[in-house]
Amino acid sequence: MRIAGTGSMLPKKVITNDMLSQFLDTSDEWIRTRTGVVSRHVISDERLEDMAIEAARRALADAEMTADELDFIICSNVVNEYVTPQLSCIIQGGIGATCPCIDINCACAGFIYALEIAESFYQAGRVRNVLIVSAEEPTRMTDWKDRRTCVLFGDGAGAAVLTPGDNIRSIKLSASSATDKLWQYRLLHPTPYITKEEVDMPLQMKGQDVFKFAVKAAGKDISRALKDVGIKADDVSHYLLHQANIRIINAIQEYLEQPAEKFPTNIEDHGNSSSSCCPILLDECNRSGLLKRGDMVAMSAFGAGFVSGAVLFEW
Ligand code: ACO
Repeated sequence: MRIAGTGSMLPKKVITNDMLSQFLDTSDEWIRTRTGVVSRHVISDERLEDMAIEAARRALADAEMTADELDFIICSNVVNEYVTPQLSCIIQGGIGATCPCIDINCACAGFIYALEIAESFYQAGRVRNVLIVSAEEPTRMTDWKDRRTCVLFGDGAGAAVLTPGDNIRSIKLSASSATDKLWQYRLLHPTPYITKEEVDMPLQMKGQDVFKFAVKAAGKDISRALKDVGIKADDVSHYLLHQANIRIINAIQEYLEQPAEKFPTNIEDHGNSSSSCCPILLDECNRSGLLKRGDMVAMSAFGAGFVSGAVLFEW
């Protein structure tokens, strides 16, 4: 397939590190140097589904396509207010599409997993035009009294429209189960029969374990994709990485022995918006004119599970 259009939407409220240090035992200096985040957009009165619909509309406009031309919609999401119906179906109605749709939860790697599903459906001859929307509100998952987690995240939605083409050259996915590194429990409604103990718990994270996994997984996934296509790291013009921590991005950059200019970031003013990071960054690089026709782009993400993936595509 070919990425024919991109779009994104961020909540209007911006929270700086200094604002966080008013109610948390933290500082701008700590957050900035340990994570790279300076400010983040957080949901206040917006609804995630409205942001997802707006990001989708912008991607369709960029692709010069109407919603009735879509054959499939994939939404990547970890949490939102609806348990059911699925977010992709709400987006379908919002943009006026009539095609089938599906939600996936692959944590921060959701956009790459969605690309693999779209490409596979296309290769099987089942679809021509696919909309992928990643919509995430991780700020609703964390304990805002826990300085180790809440400072990292921001909310947002990013979208991409895929059309026939041979620009996606390789996608490599991986998974390695580790439920004690990055996890969250929620309480379901009680029944008269439940006898086990259940808990409601915000996002829990063993930061250093996640850090190590992220660097290793991204290096491996990108290397596998490069080998698959038969090109070298030097042949890639831009590396669009999951925006979890600037130190993770720097470590991957060092592993690949590539110059920093090839790694555009937006973690400074967005934070980590889970699977939305990749399509939001892609949209910003598209709209700023950074991506030139023919550029080889590598995208890589990792998240809870653990799951990870990398994609190589020609712009
Ligand atoms: N402000 C001030 N101090 C803090 C803060 C804070 N916000 N958070 C932690 N600290 C303190 C800790 O309490 C600790 O203090 P102590 O030594 O007195 O115990 C000290 O700073 C060092 O803490 P570490 O956890 O060792 O700090 P580290 O350098 O590992 O950075 C971080 C923590 C930023 C979380 C890092 O480990 C990381 O980025 N990990 C990966 C996170 C990630 O990618 N998460 C994925 C998110 S979800 C997803 O994308 C699927």
